[in-house]
Amino acid sequence: MEETVYLNGCLLPLSKARLSPLDYGFLYGCGLFETMYAYAGRVFRLDRHLDRLRRSVTFLGMSLDGLPDLERGVYECLKANNLSDARIRLTVSVGEGKTIPDLITPQSPTVLIVARSYQSHSPETYQQGFKSILSRVRRNTWSPVSTMKSLSYLDLLLARREAKLAGADEAVLLNEQGFLAEGSISNIFLVSGSTLLTPSEDSGILPGITREAVLEIACSSGLTTLVRKVSLDELNQADEAFLTNSLIQVMPLTQINGQAIGPGRPGRITQQLMSAYKELVEQEVQK
Ligand SMILES: Cc1ncc(COP(=O)(O)O)c(C=O)c1O
Repeated sequence: MEETVYLNGCLLPLSKARLSPLDYGFLYGCGLFETMYAYAGRVFRLDRHLDRLRRSVTFLGMSLDGLPDLERGVYECLKANNLSDARIRLTVSVGEGKTIPDLITPQSPTVLIVARSYQSHSPETYQQGFKSILSRVRRNTWSPVSTMKSLSYLDLLLARREAKLAGADEAVLLNEQGFLAEGSISNIFLVSGSTLLTPSEDSGILPGITREAVLEIACSSGLTTLVRKVSLDELNQADEAFLTNSLIQVMPLTQINGQAIGPGRPGRITQQLMSAYKELVEQEVQK
């Protein structure tokens, strides 16, 4: 059966979905997206994803009134595709504007929701952890775009290509000041002794929904948590490291540029947080 997508308030078969070739999302990467995970028919922290999206929508000067009911759209799309465990991508572009690019003239946003089943990484991958490389691409702390999940994804895709060409799973990016920022599709955490450390929001990162949940879990389980600028040396000397995003959840990071991080295996605190995150998800989706 053909998959159904949600486009501007309507559910329709993918082959019938049409976007304008003049949409600024296509022409200029001018828009935003969210990638979310539905467990047992409920989207984990959908409210936080939508809050993050709405903050960026407002920053771009789009009117929130111009958007359909996004929560409803997400659930309608899941239902129409008969999915309960799925990856959901919600894209909002500013729509069409004048020929000479500006952010003022687009008036009518484009909203697209696609829900697909998601094959998570194998248990072996979680046992071995991800290998990474340090990217040549840097995050820019001066750009507001670094803090948004924007359609302008080219820097991150270039970083990702470097990783893939080197046979690695993820690229780690520094910011222009040389501090640690994030992965190409993930946030990064280090463990040193019993302290959990992650780059602060002013490090040029997307403040991840999973990162936020992991910080909450860490605080409630009594771990010392530091959110600040983090140097590359701290990563090289860390006992453990891991990456987070809505789909991989908590993924051990065991190598960078061919060098083991800590003993090169998922560490104790990482494993504790992996289980605690899964428990949190189960609790919240059952509410
Ligand atoms: C650049 C970047 N940083 C961090 C994240 C993690 O965000 P979240 O936990 O909200 O999925 C992502 C997710 O794709 C990302 O693309």
